[in-house]
Amino acid sequence: MTTPVATAPFIRLGGEPGVRALVDRFYDLMDLEPAYAGIRAMHPGSLDGSRDKLYWFLCGWLGGPDHYVQRHGHPRLRARHLPYAIGIAERDQWMACMIQAMQEQAVDETLAQRLAESFFGTADWMRNR
Ligand code: HEM
Repeated sequence: MTTPVATAPFIRLGGEPGVRALVDRFYDLMDLEPAYAGIRAMHPGSLDGSRDKLYWFLCGWLGGPDHYVQRHGHPRLRARHLPYAIGIAERDQWMACMIQAMQEQAVDETLAQRLAESFFGTADWMRNR
């Protein structure tokens, strides 16, 4: 009997184009939805750089190519978020924005649920207030 090999979320999301589409929807929503205005205001006027960085990071985080590390070295995510005041409200806005993006990109429900749990762990770890 063979043990089924878990397919990396990166593949299940559709590889690079799928991850890019999810990140683009995430930042489109952050720009559009008043509910996310609090975290939108922490970001630069143009979200182009933020889109690229989150896309590169998530490719590796989801089990695909390590684009972020190749460009920026170790992510040091918590340290890189220290300039921004992140408390429970900001964490919850980030999570709601990502969950909405996954729904709108029609990410499989079981996968979306699992990813939401993993995202939550990282988002909660980013809290510095
Ligand atoms: C908890 C709420 C969060 C808030 C309010 C937040 C906010 C921000 C802000 C304002 C930036 C700077 C954007 C820029 O330089 O263009 C940033 C960068 C970044 N964030 Fe977050 N973030 C949160 C959670 C997360 C989570 C959960 C992840 C990953 C799963 C993540 C991944 C990143 C990455 C990869 C960068 C780029 C870092 C760099 O190279 O400078 N963030 N975030």
